[in-house]
This record gives sequence, structure tokens and C-alpha cells, in this order.
Amino acid sequence: MSYPYQIKSFEQYQKDYKRSIEDPAGFWSDIAEHFQWKKKWDNPLNWNFTEPKVEWFKGATLNITENCLDRHLEKMGDIPAIIWEPNDPEEHHRIITYKKLHEKVCQFANVLKNNGVKKGDRVCIYMGMIPELAIAVLACARIGAIHSVVFGGFSAQSIADRLYDAQAEYIITCDGAYRGAKDIPLKSVIDDALIGNRTVKRVIVCTRTRTPVSMIKGRDVWWEDEIKKIETLGLNDCAAEDMEAEDPLFILYTSGSTGKPKGVVHSCAGYMLYTNYTFVNVFQYQPGDIHFCTADIGWITGHSYIVYGPLSAGATTLMFEGVPTWPDAGRFWDIIDKYRVNILYTAPTAIRSLMGFGLGPVHGHDLSSLKILGTVGEPINEEAWHWYHEHIGKGKCPIVDTWWQTETGGILISNLAGVTPAKASWATLPLPGVEPVLVDEKGDEITTMEDGVYKGNLCIKQPWPSILRTTYGDHERCRTNYFATYPNLYFTGDGALKDEQGFYRITGRVDDVLNVSGHRIGTAEVENAINMHSGVVESAVVGYPHEIKGQGIYAFVIYTGSHQQNTHGTADLIRKDLLQTVTRIIGPIAKPDKIQFVSGLPKTRSGKIMRRILRKIAEGEVENLGDTTTLLDPAIVDEIKNGRL
Ligand code: PRX
Repeated sequence: MSYPYQIKSFEQYQKDYKRSIEDPAGFWSDIAEHFQWKKKWDNPLNWNFTEPKVEWFKGATLNITENCLDRHLEKMGDIPAIIWEPNDPEEHHRIITYKKLHEKVCQFANVLKNNGVKKGDRVCIYMGMIPELAIAVLACARIGAIHSVVFGGFSAQSIADRLYDAQAEYIITCDGAYRGAKDIPLKSVIDDALIGNRTVKRVIVCTRTRTPVSMIKGRDVWWEDEIKKIETLGLNDCAAEDMEAEDPLFILYTSGSTGKPKGVVHSCAGYMLYTNYTFVNVFQYQPGDIHFCTADIGWITGHSYIVYGPLSAGATTLMFEGVPTWPDAGRFWDIIDKYRVNILYTAPTAIRSLMGFGLGPVHGHDLSSLKILGTVGEPINEEAWHWYHEHIGKGKCPIVDTWWQTETGGILISNLAGVTPAKASWATLPLPGVEPVLVDEKGDEITTMEDGVYKGNLCIKQPWPSILRTTYGDHERCRTNYFATYPNLYFTGDGALKDEQGFYRITGRVDDVLNVSGHRIGTAEVENAINMHSGVVESAVVGYPHEIKGQGIYAFVIYTGSHQQNTHGTADLIRKDLLQTVTRIIGPIAKPDKIQFVSGLPKTRSGKIMRRILRKIAEGEVENLGDTTTLLDPAIVDEIKNGRL
């Protein structure tokens, strides 16, 4: 497959960028010509950010799986689509060619149909990183069902909330999942999530760990049995459903500054185009390259750069079931050596954690196949950037620092590997189609430099093809969250710097959202979970710099009432109870790193918690807390300062 829209020089980038901003409809229409449509569009672009309403390629029909599978069959049917590396290096890996993947997707699409799944139905997918996860996702897309993948680390309660919000009627899961030394009982978590659920009709369970599971008659069926039925019926092909360009492709829940995760909705055509375009350009993919994105498909990175971006480009995508540090910290390097990986795309937190093991685990692995390195999920500190560049890329691989979000569907700001300049810890330049702007609190564009840079809140002026279309079931929430802070702008929630060359550096969230190991967690969500514990009166959660995770979670908790610390054990025991509560309500990823018991929280006279002060204390900046005289009880600040962990 060739990519006529692959940018090959900085001059071409500048030219393409200029055209994309001046004539987005024309620019993206030309790119769209390189995809397979069932019917071409009537109108390439119609939008306003007030409602908001964004429509790309209205009138067109397509199926994304024809672009990811069918169109490659003739010339590339025998090349590997997915290389799967299991958790345990002793277990056999799997290689699935495009032909095989097409067949498996069609078979499973027929399983879904056989079980009553129809176009537009919501299907929750809660699986480990096995090829069947990608197959399940694509099978949904094949028949027009809307997938909602939930990361395997979320709790039963989180799944229950997501099932309810999406009114999902179907679940695809596994008996269990392997993650390093752990064995996660996915089906049993689903069983807990389904207590009291009234919408789910069918649970399809794929075998992986063969952990004992309770299969409920009339509701639960085994994946393998269902496939056998399809084989017996000879239903090995499945016509791809006609999808309108703007039909929803999937929902993916993500945290915001309120307590409830939002179901970000992406549509078929725009998402397909943009993930493909950014995959081909940012990573400068060449036919035959092996692309290894270490994310989980439960996050947007996995959706866009393990599944849809690479497969729509006819690429070979490597899916890894395990974790970077098990059985040892050489796991990634081992995989790169074994498959001669060309592109490695991972998170700064993984780099920092592997850096901590020194160079021992890197030595002895041949990393010479690597051409391009990428990072995503959080700002990368210079030390990690240089380690990655020097010890993994051996000084010869460009690093792409890709900034984007669940809501953006694909990469918005990044250098293009080897084509546009890189700058350590800077995401650098916007992709074609993306027009960023830095604004102040009032929404006015920042026009003066401070210490040699512009500094402000990062917004985007016009829609790119994979911008979120809505938040599921609540369009008003989408408007207020992203389009109401500043009129006519999409607000990212991030702060950024811009230098004189126009390079952007993302400084982090400016709202109450934490970024822990590249995962987004709302402080309000964690507080809600902590407050569920019977002894907790109130809590406040803030982030603090964490060497490996980027940000750690610091919780200030008022714990009192009938459950005094001395009745129910030591502070340490109660901390463990609280961690258990958070694990139950959200999942282990949201567990606070530090819990400090306090007798009160710094509040304004109107009762608002002064998070600014708590943040400074958590960060260890206790000397410079600013004005505390307006507080209801200024004395509380000293108590909190003295008790800092
Ligand atoms: O704060 C930014 C940070 O991650 C947030 C988006 O999180 P999520 O929707 O979970 O998606 C993560 C993977 C795309 C952003 O608002 N972020 C993401 N990439 C970068 C980043 N911060 C700095 N540099 C990046 N490259």
C-alpha cells in the first residue's frame, strides 16, 4: 500500500498545513479519495462550535472494517495484520494475517448477529489484550454496533455505571486476563457489575485463563461455542453494514473534572481518516514496518494506534498482552529484538520506570531494527527523553512526542518523525488540520511573550475530522465541557507554552483532572469514592509530582464520626480500608499514593475548598502558600502543613 498523502519534507508539511487551515474541506476531501466508500459524500464539512455540531463527509456511506480489512486482501492478504505476544514469554505467540483477521472478524460479526446484536446497539467490551479483543472491536464495527471498551483495570462498579450510561445490552469479556504475575478474573468482575442490571441480555465469554467462571443459563455463552455454531452454518463471511459517515463508531469513557466519566463518541468517517492520516505521517510508516504500540486497547491510544490507524493503513501492528517489567524489565527490548520492531510507541511513565532498572535489562538485546520512537499520555521530562533517545534509539531514531486526547481521536500536536524538527519535551507543531491557539482566562488570545514564550490555555479553533461529536446521551455536557469555556473554541483542558518557532510544549491539565501514569483521573471521582467509606466526613484530592507516575494522588481526609481511628485500628489500617474502597468503586488505578488525615480542610467563607493551598502543600511548597487570611479557619493550614506526608 502506498500513502500519497505522506508528508516527506518540512516544506511539504508547511504547504500542506497552510492549505489544511485555509481550505479544510478541500484538503480532507483529497485525502478521503484514498479510502473505500460505499457512496461518496455530498458535503465534506459542516460545523459550528456553538451547538456544537460537526459533520464531516455528510451523505457518504462506508464501513471502516472494509478499509481496515477487505481492501487489503487482494494484495496483502498474507502479510501479518496482528502479531500477538503473550504475557508469558514461554507461551507461543500468534501471527494473524489480513486474510485470517478478515475471516475471524466476519465469523465473530455473525456470532454477534446470531446473538441479536443490531446496528446501533451498544456492546461493552471488557477483555485482556488478546487478539480476540481487536476482533471483537472490529466485529462490532462490521455490523454497525457501537463498541464501548472498558479497560480491564476498572472495577465492577465502574463497569456498572458505564453499562447504565450507554444502556448496553451486550457484553464481550474473557474468563480472565494475564497481566504480569497477576491473573485478573474479568468474568467474575462482570458478574458483580451485572447485579441489579436490567439491560444486558447476553454476555459472550472468551477463554483465556480458564479461571473458574459461573456461566448463567440464558445469559452467558462461550465465544468458542458460538464460533462453532457459525462454522457449522458455514457463515464465514459477513457483509459490512452500510454506515453513514457520521454514525457513531464507538463510545469511550474518560474522566473529567466532575465525578462522572463521560462517554466520548467518535464517528465512522472522520475518525477513520484522521487516525490513518496521523499514523502514516507522525510515525512515517513504511510498508512492511512493524509497529509496536504498548498501550492497552482499553484506552484511546490502543483504539487509534493499535487497531484502526495501523489496520486502515495495511500495517503490521504488534499487540502485547503483558507488562513492561514482567518477568523482568527487559520485556519490551526482548519483544523488539524478537520481531525486529521498527516503531515503538509508549508512555513516559513506562520509560521512567524502565530507566529505574538501569541499562542491564537493555543490554544483550538487539534494538537495531528500531527506526522511530514515540511517546504519549503526559509530558515527557528531558531526562527520560534523553535516555530513550540515547539508550533505546541509540541516538539515531527520531522521537515523536505526540499530544492528543480521548476527545481528539488522534494526534493533534507532534513532530513528524524525521520530517519536522524535534525538541526534547516539546510536542512541537500542529498536524495539518489543527489550528491551536493559546488564550488567557477570559478567552483572549495571548499575544505577548513572557520569559521568551507565550503561555496560556490550549484551545483549537476549527474541527479536525476526528473531533468528538458528543458525550453519549448528554450533548449539553459535551457543550459545557469543551465548547462553553471560550466561545467558538474547543478547550482542551491543558495549559501550554509556545516558543518563537511556533513549537508547543504541553504543561499539563489546568482543570481538576490528574494524569497518573498517563491515565486520566478526575479528582472529584476519587473524592466521591473516598467519601463512600463510612467513616469519611469529607475529602479533597490533588496531584503532586511523582518520579515514575508523573503525577501521584494525594488525598486529605477528614475521618471521624462513630468510626474513630482508635476503634477501627491504626491510621495505617484505615488507609488500607480507604484504598480498598477506591479500588472497589473505581479500580486500582485510582488508588491514592498518600492519604493524610486532617481535622478540617482550608475553605473560603463561602465553603469552597481552596485546592490551590492543598496542591502547594502536597507539592512540598509549604513556605509560599499565598494569601490565607480569607480562609474560614486559617489555623487549619498549619495543622495540614505539619502533618504533611
Ligand atoms: O494532559 C494531556 C495529556 O493527556 C491528556 C489526555 O488524556 P487521555 O484522554 O487519557 O489521552 C491520553 C492519550 C492520548 C491530555 O489532555 N497528554 C497526552 N499526551 C501528551 C499529554 N501531555 C503532554 N504531552 C503529551 N504528549
